[in-house]
Amino acid sequence: MDIKSVLGSKIDAAFTQLGLQGQAAVQASARAEFGDYQANGVMAAAKRAKKNPREVASQVVDILDLAGIASKVEVAGPGFLNITLEAKFLAQNMPGRVDAVDEVATIVVDYSAPNLAKEMHVGHLRSSIIGDCLVRVLEARGHHVIRQNHVGDWGTQFGMLLTFMQDNNADGRTDALADLESFYRAAKVRFDADDNFRSRARLAVVGLQSGDADSLSAWQHFIDISMTHCDDIYQRLGVTLTRKDIAGESSYNDDLAQVVEDLDAQSLLQESDGAQCVFLDQFKNKKGDILPVIVRKSDGGYLYATTDLAAVRHRTGTLKADRVLYFTDARQSLHFKQIFAVASAAGFNMNNASLEHMPFGSMLDAKGKPFKSREGGVIKLSDLLDEAERRATVLVRQKNPGMSQDEAESLGRVIGIGAIKYADLSKNRTSDYVFDWNQMISFEGNTAPYLQYAYTRIQSLFSKGDVKVEDLPSQVIAVDEYERRLAVTLAGFNDMLDQVAEEGSPHLLCGYLYELATRFTQFYEACPILKSDGQDRSRRLALANDTAMTLRQGLDLLGIGVVSHM
Ligand code: ARG
Repeated sequence: MDIKSVLGSKIDAAFTQLGLQGQAAVQASARAEFGDYQANGVMAAAKRAKKNPREVASQVVDILDLAGIASKVEVAGPGFLNITLEAKFLAQNMPGRVDAVDEVATIVVDYSAPNLAKEMHVGHLRSSIIGDCLVRVLEARGHHVIRQNHVGDWGTQFGMLLTFMQDNNADGRTDALADLESFYRAAKVRFDADDNFRSRARLAVVGLQSGDADSLSAWQHFIDISMTHCDDIYQRLGVTLTRKDIAGESSYNDDLAQVVEDLDAQSLLQESDGAQCVFLDQFKNKKGDILPVIVRKSDGGYLYATTDLAAVRHRTGTLKADRVLYFTDARQSLHFKQIFAVASAAGFNMNNASLEHMPFGSMLDAKGKPFKSREGGVIKLSDLLDEAERRATVLVRQKNPGMSQDEAESLGRVIGIGAIKYADLSKNRTSDYVFDWNQMISFEGNTAPYLQYAYTRIQSLFSKGDVKVEDLPSQVIAVDEYERRLAVTLAGFNDMLDQVAEEGSPHLLCGYLYELATRFTQFYEACPILKSDGQDRSRRLALANDTAMTLRQGLDLLGIGVVSHM
């Protein structure tokens, strides 16, 4: 249950009853002596009514109906409400199950979206895994989620690649395309050096755009191979995207002329240097000039922006999205501001959907520079994942000298990939972060290995005590102080997920799991489990089991696996 919203709506009802205007904001308490939850909002409501906040607060407490929910509500400080939950209510809300929301929305999530001319590189990591965490959370909450992989599969670079493919007779041979990165590089060298090649490449683009059958089939072949590279990465990363989710730039091709025509029909177009542009007043630069959104170049070609306008219409019209979330690099922020503004001016947002750009920062090296290979080039994502697995396998071998290489490698895969993903997901999405192998793969601190290890510890506790999970009580009432702190944390699971879904911020989920593991450790140190007996034993084991379930469930929502030992 969303405890925060339940408490919030009860307090709001009390406000209404007292004729007050305002809304309560409920947060989990930072410290145990403040109760389990703390509500803010009384002060503002009292101020509006020109009344004494503490008096108003005690009136709220008097009429607040929290029967069966809270055992104690106290006024604190200038007018906060400190709320202590009823033990039974807490017990009912503990197990780490994701609850379905009441109002199901259709949510389109645009993420990953690599450019298919090349292989995926580290720049695609963040979009792929942050976006995937969001779809997992939204789906678990019961929303209707539509994944849209807006891959870059169209445009002039494909003319170059197709022509190079033809010249090298790479058509039927996949091995020339086994390393897409070097294929692209070689094609580019030819393109830059050879005039004749360049003009043939341009003709190939024209052929493609006019729907020439041979060009299209060569293009399809290339896209297919490139997507196979992506599928491999998705599979390794545990990203849930499949071929069905592809809605690439090419899929909007037939609608682009219409987009421009519709903009024109609404007198939103203006010609500038032969190009068709939309000028909106709100996009002025420092000098006061308006930054236009170009939708058609002077040579008749369409742009990234034109495609995104068509995509807004498709997603809100055909797919009937209530929300559309876009996960890209922060450098595209202006682009999306403009797209959303033009879409709304032109009436392309058919469903009056909430269009939300969820920008993220860059991965940096130890010196704070963009993360690059030793030679200064981009790092292929597959190489990065190889290294993560290799490093984790070495670590597993060190910890378990007797383990077979096979087993160490299979553990190394889960731990290595988990470490890379978690290091990224646990950072506030909007900031840049330093990529640091040693930190992410450590068993201490806010890392995936730490959480995976916490999970295995509970599993080994169960096998040591020969515990049958089915026999544990399904609801427990926390007794000891540390039991209670753990129980309150467990009960906050859905509140936290709510916020993750709202803000698109997986780091809150990571922070939650880290806190949970920490609270479990404190509880574990303070309260003997296997050495206790009777109700103490079964209650504490049930708490341990709820913790393990929540850890596994939470890691799963991050797309990170658990292992039985490590
Ligand atoms: N392919 C683009 C890139 O690599 C990302 C696409 C994001 N989605 C969108 N609808 N523009 O930068």
